Amino acid sequence: MTHKVHFRTFDIELEVADGQTILDAALAAKIDYPCGCQSGNCGACKSRLFTGKVDLAPYSEFALETSERDQGLVLACRSVPLTDCEIAPLDQDEVVAHPHRVMDCKIGRITEATHDIRVIQIDVIGGGPFSFSPGQYAALTFSGLPPRDFSMANRADEDRLEFHIRRITGGKVSDHILDQLKVGDRVNVEGPYGVSYLRKLHRGPILAVAGSTGLAPIKSIVGSALQIGMKQSIYLYLGVRDERDLYMTDALELLATDYPSLTFTPVLSEPSEQVKYRSGLVTDAVLSDFDDLDGCKAYIAGPPAMVEMAVEKFQLLGIRREDCHADAFYTEAEKAILDQGE
Ligand SMILES: Cc1cc2nc3c(=O)[nH]c(=O)nc-3n(C[C@H](O)[C@H](O)[C@H](O)COP(=O)(O)OP(=O)(O)OC[C@H]3O[C@@H](n4cnc5c(N)ncnc54)[C@H](O)[C@@H]3O)c2cc1C
Ligand code: FES
Repeated sequence: MTHKVHFRTFDIELEVADGQTILDAALAAKIDYPCGCQSGNCGACKSRLFTGKVDLAPYSEFALETSERDQGLVLACRSVPLTDCEIAPLDQDEVVAHPHRVMDCKIGRITEATHDIRVIQIDVIGGGPFSFSPGQYAALTFSGLPPRDFSMANRADEDRLEFHIRRITGGKVSDHILDQLKVGDRVNVEGPYGVSYLRKLHRGPILAVAGSTGLAPIKSIVGSALQIGMKQSIYLYLGVRDERDLYMTDALELLATDYPSLTFTPVLSEPSEQVKYRSGLVTDAVLSDFDDLDGCKAYIAGPPAMVEMAVEKFQLLGIRREDCHADAFYTEAEKAILDQGE
């Protein structure tokens, strides 16, 4: 049995098939509905359900807090209508829309950033031009492998795409990138996706917090903010385990010298010896450096545990949840756990 769903923002009504999610129906009808992971993890499709009832498949508390659920918010990617409904995505500040692209690309350069991180640069050969907002991500498909999400690290005005890839133990795609990828290999790049992008109109301070390769979107955000002349203070924190996991620190220190508005703080959680860097959890470093984050925007990216803790703890310093733009780097295993409802 189908149900009618009215999409208030777009003033469109669709028949949604039995068992189909509202997001699937919207995307199939080419509605530009905000979304990211499509698996209840990121919160990008958070929506207000004005009328009707939906069955909500399992989702992470990070994507939709219980208090938000109680106020009538839902995730469109997890919502299967049980009755006719009316819905609208939550208002986003500074909405951006870029054309969706499926591009044929070629690996232009591979750099060994650390023992388990490669920086790859990619040239678009066909299907472009590619426009995106700093902080967004794309799905990369290498020949014979499943697609995986990786965030653009280059500024949006730069032609060559840059990605930072960390090896996940047993991970098909990251193993391939670290062990076999060569300059000249082809890759399909599809996107852009995600709503944790730089808000260019914001005038308050910017807190940019990266865990490991979470630096990719954060580098794009910070580099773009400086390049377009955003004048506010930008506090960039990079959290890794040990000194051998740090990368691009020289370039970021140089950037901080060129732009006095930028402060760069690497933080090591498990330093093996006395080092010149701060130690501890990157979230604790932020908590000890600030008394009040009211009026800031926070951009946070990296391992899910770090991102979830940062969003929770930073709110204790007065930042609003809607000013925390966060991308948790869920792996396929983590997405699968959620899909099984565990
Ligand atoms: C929005 C977003 C942006 C991201 N950006 C970046 C980035 O810029 N840089 C970066 O390094 N990472 C990024 N990630 C994370 C990256 O997409 C994952 O780490 C990716 O899954 C790695 O792919 P893989 O094939 O190497 O590992 P996966 O296939 O994901 O495997 C990871 C682990 O899960 C296990 N596994 C795989 N499939 C299943 C399953 N179905 N059930 C149970 N276990 C399974 C594997 O054995 C392995 O141990 C991002 C993730 C998201 C969601
Ligand atoms: S797209 Fe729905 S939670 Fe990510």
